Amino acid sequence: MSLPDPQFNAAGTLQHFIDLQGLDADTLTRILDTAEGFTGINDRKIKQVPLLRGKTVANLFFENSTRTRTAFELAAKRLSADILNIDLVTSSTSKGESLLDTLRVLESLQCDMFIVRHADSGAAHFIARHVAPHINIINGGDGQHSHPTQGMLDVFTIRRHKGDFSNLCVVIIGDIKHSRVARSDIAALTILGAGEVRVVGPKTLMPSDVESMNVKVFSSLDTALKGADVIISLRLQKERMKNATVPSSGEFYRTYGLSPQRLALAKPDALVMHPGPTNRGVEIAGSVADGAQSVILEQVTYGIAVRMAVMSIIMGNSDAMSASRISNNTTTTDAQL
Ligand code: CP
Repeated sequence: MSLPDPQFNAAGTLQHFIDLQGLDADTLTRILDTAEGFTGINDRKIKQVPLLRGKTVANLFFENSTRTRTAFELAAKRLSADILNIDLVTSSTSKGESLLDTLRVLESLQCDMFIVRHADSGAAHFIARHVAPHINIINGGDGQHSHPTQGMLDVFTIRRHKGDFSNLCVVIIGDIKHSRVARSDIAALTILGAGEVRVVGPKTLMPSDVESMNVKVFSSLDTALKGADVIISLRLQKERMKNATVPSSGEFYRTYGLSPQRLALAKPDALVMHPGPTNRGVEIAGSVADGAQSVILEQVTYGIAVRMAVMSIIMGNSDAMSASRISNNTTTTDAQL
């Protein structure tokens, strides 16, 4: 028997944000619409709203990050939350403290939300199952499994430029096998009804379950790019490769690098996207990453609004649940009196 999805609380609302699989189009659209409302905060003199005032968010990054960690920190600050950046290199986890003991310490410090990045697939699920019930977990990337806020900011960027998803052809290039971003992008695009999602890369870098992923698989990049509206380039995730037959950087660029000549095969208004970090001259030419069709830095900016949306929605659901518990208890007490 499969366990219930740990993302949902007893009221059936989203308590944690761990994986886009299992969510529906209404939930994703609500996140996108909420994020749309937050984008204007960037242009205000005071870039803050009081939605999470009095709440404490802890960034628990067991793996390196530039974009995700800083965007979550800014998102928390813009929602007026207090944010703890736990330095896991200097924390007691490096002295042998278990993950569960570290969680109990952070619970004792009265944290309300943990943002978790971990090299192991399933780490955020594990934490969600073991954490105190009032705490919200957001997955900031677990192994090669899932990076749901990256998936959401990618579809947010696409929606801003292209509107409706139903006629879009999206091409994801490169190391699909080790990419949690590819999995979350495919999930988000499928849920939102994208016309066609193509994946292209070396056979050795395709997931074994690619045939069940609701995508069209290509081996020739030139063929895959024909008619593309959106191109998502991915880096070779060498830190997650164990014994994989990997082409050299030069060979990879020659076969799967997004060069200006290759970009010209896509539609003239095709968007160029990359979750970062980029390796120029390996998966993408510098001139394409910096070119007129690139929205790579917009993706980073939109990451703040999208994370504000996710944080405020799941924290709001938890608060509504707690309020209903308090109100039920009050009713009982009043009746007893
Ligand atoms: N896209 C992404 O996850 O980047 P970081 O590793 O810098 O967070």
